[in-house]
Amino acid sequence: MTDKKIRRSQAWYGKQDKDGFIHRSWMKNQGFPDHVFDGRPIIGICNTWSELTPCNSGLRDLAEMVKRGVWEAGGFPVEFPVMSLGETQMKPTAMLFRNLLAMDVEESIRAYGIDGVVLLGGCDKTTPGQLMGAASVDLPTIVVSSGPMLNGKWEGKDIGSGTDVWKFSESVRAGEMSLKDFMAAESGMSRSKGVCMTMGTASTMASLVEAMGMSLPTNAALPAVDARRGALAHLTGKRIVEMVEEDLVMSKILTKESFKNAIIANAAVGGSTNAVVHLLAIAGRCEIDLTLKDFEIANQIPLLVNCMPSGKYLMEDFCYAGGMPVVLKELKDKLYPANTVLNKDIGVYSDGAKCFNEDVIRRYNTPLKPAAGLRVLKGNLAPRGAIIKPSAASDHLLEHRGSAYVFENIEDMKAKIDLPDLPVDENTILVLKGCGPKGYPGMPEVGNMPIPRCLVEKGIKDMVRVSDARMSGTAFGTVVLHVAPEANAGGNLALVKTGDMILLSASKGVLELEVSEDELAERRKHWQPDAPHYSRGYAKLYIDHVMQADEGADLDFLVGKDTRPVTRESH
Ligand code: FES
Repeated sequence: MTDKKIRRSQAWYGKQDKDGFIHRSWMKNQGFPDHVFDGRPIIGICNTWSELTPCNSGLRDLAEMVKRGVWEAGGFPVEFPVMSLGETQMKPTAMLFRNLLAMDVEESIRAYGIDGVVLLGGCDKTTPGQLMGAASVDLPTIVVSSGPMLNGKWEGKDIGSGTDVWKFSESVRAGEMSLKDFMAAESGMSRSKGVCMTMGTASTMASLVEAMGMSLPTNAALPAVDARRGALAHLTGKRIVEMVEEDLVMSKILTKESFKNAIIANAAVGGSTNAVVHLLAIAGRCEIDLTLKDFEIANQIPLLVNCMPSGKYLMEDFCYAGGMPVVLKELKDKLYPANTVLNKDIGVYSDGAKCFNEDVIRRYNTPLKPAAGLRVLKGNLAPRGAIIKPSAASDHLLEHRGSAYVFENIEDMKAKIDLPDLPVDENTILVLKGCGPKGYPGMPEVGNMPIPRCLVEKGIKDMVRVSDARMSGTAFGTVVLHVAPEANAGGNLALVKTGDMILLSASKGVLELEVSEDELAERRKHWQPDAPHYSRGYAKLYIDHVMQADEGADLDFLVGKDTRPVTRESH
């Protein structure tokens, strides 16, 4: 390398003493020669590959492609593992461990002698967890995502991850689908490596990463098994070396404007409600003041991407239609100026973008739905906020007043939901407590609770549901989520009783429990928080320190960053 500036990694590998000997010598046991320690950029490849995270199972191969690019650009790549979070495999919920992954990522980056980082993630919580951790160290950082699976196929039709699971499951409960067919669909749904091929949380976060300029263009939609994703990984390896040369640290890319662009893009792609807690948490690490109110800037942004769960296509179709560059082109007048990993404005991401299917990616003036942004709700039932996703809801339920039927916790809901005489009708509002960050713990994706069997059998497909839980990005329905404060933190949600009237107005942003303040005060006198589910280990740390959904559900002591050099040696 011609650039002789002293890099961060030289504090490990540039020393001509005992400490330098120790750092270099042990690395040489992998066959690295002397000259790779000559001061060239050392690039960490932070890998969430795991066979228990099937969505990220392609990342081992992608890491090799990244390394090719790093070597080509004159850098020295070193791959390291971090905790992986398999959304479909972990109990009680992968979200409980997002902050643990973030801690792992942050401390791994800080403790090792690297100059820049490539984050390899994909499955829902891995992308935000990695970004949160990396933001707290603030080195040059770039993302390569797993990429979506190929379209699911069953009986000659396309079927989508998650979205069709919920549909098929309800059809079985309604007696419209046989168990044999249900099991047969299981094998056709997940046909290749990669993340859910609906616009679930993984593809949402990959799309927002691209809209925030934290990956190269086209990263979101290229299928996991498309050779072009390998080429993208190679180019990313080259680019991170240049980013180190340019000292293009994460804080020079992620600004308030880039978060606003992500919020706007989330509306246009019909993105996951989970993006709210993740963007709030990442912003907290970046020391950027982002609040639920900021999400209102996207209220009038139309839905452009016709993908499940808000539309009918899948990520493979989105890729072939042109992917995120086309969306960013349609949004060009709405986006804020913001830097990217290219050290150029986000506007360049859509240069030359062409749409090859205007049914999959709609024009701004002929959208799938107008005004598709997530709605923030406030009222005495959610003083600190709740959210709803109109693009995945039933229009006729977005303005609704109904009496509550309350489930005190997840076990109560599961025990009662199929009772033939459950006293509910299609106007009832189902309320579920005990599923917030502290309560469950970990705020699982159970907010889209099933429609009671007695109503499913009458053909009812949707009802208003209210909880302190999240829901899968692949899910749909008129579902009010992220009620804050949660029941277990003493929010008014804890005080709702069956028969109370609740008013929902998505257009006015209202979620009101029609019970007098005096009555609520009386109920509060008799309220006792549930005993926590864990008394030791990480889960206890989480329960004691997790913040509410409106603050991103990060741990309170992890907010912000620490960019000080580590000066003390290990021996
Ligand atoms: Fe991993 Fe959907 S479960 S991306």
